[in-house]
Amino acid sequence: MKVLITGGAGFIGSNFVYYMLEKHQDYQLICIDKLTYAGNMSTLKKAMESRNFTFYKADIADRQVIDEIFEKERPDVVVNFAAESHVDRSITNPGIFLETNVIGTQVLLEASKKYNVKRYHQVSTDEVYGDLPLERKDLFFTELTPLHTSSPYSASKASADLLTLAYFRTYGFPVTISRCSNNYGPFHFPEKLIPLMIVNALKEKSLPVYGDGKNVRDWLYVEDHCKAIDLIIHKGRVGEIYNVGGHNEKTNLEVVNEIISYLGKGTIRFVTDRAGHDRRYAIDPSKITNELGWFPETSFNKGIKITIDWYIQNQGWWEEILNGTYQEYYQKMYGSKA
Ligand code: NAD
Ligand code: TYD
Repeated sequence: MKVLITGGAGFIGSNFVYYMLEKHQDYQLICIDKLTYAGNMSTLKKAMESRNFTFYKADIADRQVIDEIFEKERPDVVVNFAAESHVDRSITNPGIFLETNVIGTQVLLEASKKYNVKRYHQVSTDEVYGDLPLERKDLFFTELTPLHTSSPYSASKASADLLTLAYFRTYGFPVTISRCSNNYGPFHFPEKLIPLMIVNALKEKSLPVYGDGKNVRDWLYVEDHCKAIDLIIHKGRVGEIYNVGGHNEKTNLEVVNEIISYLGKGTIRFVTDRAGHDRRYAIDPSKITNELGWFPETSFNKGIKITIDWYIQNQGWWEEILNGTYQEYYQKMYGSKA
């Protein structure tokens, strides 16, 4: 079996590459990544040593190049992780989110159809459902919850989902979609909440919490997400959407305080809120649990410790990022926030 993975030099894509190399040792993995600021070849260093792994530096929105790669590699399965993924960046620069997340998805769908890919899997997000009110703890996102996006990021991801479903309905092309809650774990780029707080605390910098810090996210250890996608591409029904999440809701303040307490250091600084900030995400995962037997195996208590320890032990990985264009981003994002 040949599996083409896009965005494999990013956070979840790279974790998926390592998961698949270990779990299916007879599979060939092909990775396509543009290596944007979020993609990192040092993340894939170990994978590059494997005979079962091939890497292409390419843009998923580049029709000609993508066509050439599909013509040469003829993958059986495509899993599309490649995306612009940060909400804050989508607020300041929405255009690239449409290029990669919408056009890129359509280019991949078209190439997958042309070369008779047996399964195209779109990695989506619970953010396509918008947000839930904090005071209605009884409400959860199901696969039937209407799309109701807030940010340019989530709007672009919802558009990609609709295109993916259009390829199923119109052409009978075999697609699946997973909509997952917030992930955390190794190789997470330090612009997102958890790695940013860990890195800042380790560097003795303050921890910038947006607004009142009461926004709620439903956290899932990245390996549990990888397991869900592996199950869906092998056993999921075509044309179906599967929500992935582990009933692990926490306020941002709870998450940040947990990091401070484990590290024994870190000072919170409340900063100006994110524009259009979603209040609460919460997934109902009963469909994937009942149909495919998926359930989260790593508790937050365990996963957050593994993650913090990983950042302590892999300082070289994130220091390299901090020394690049990240400085400029950080200054622009947080420099003027009060
Ligand atoms: P990430 O930003 O860490 O990685 C994205 C990767 O895609 C990078 O390696 C980048 O170089 C690559 N890329 C970007 N534009 C590209 C292009 N035009 N062509 C080829 N490669 C390109 O993102 P992530 O957090 O690993 O998210 C992966 C996927 O999972 C995304 O589709 C995201 O929407 C989805 N998702 C993320 C989360 C989360 O909590 N991080 C939760 C649910 C769903
Ligand atoms: P983030 O990791 O960007 O994921 P998403 O917005 O896609 O859920 O943010 C998670 C939560 O943390 C979100 O409510 C915004 C908040 N946040 C902060 O309070 N401070 C920060 O510096 C960042 C990056 C996020």
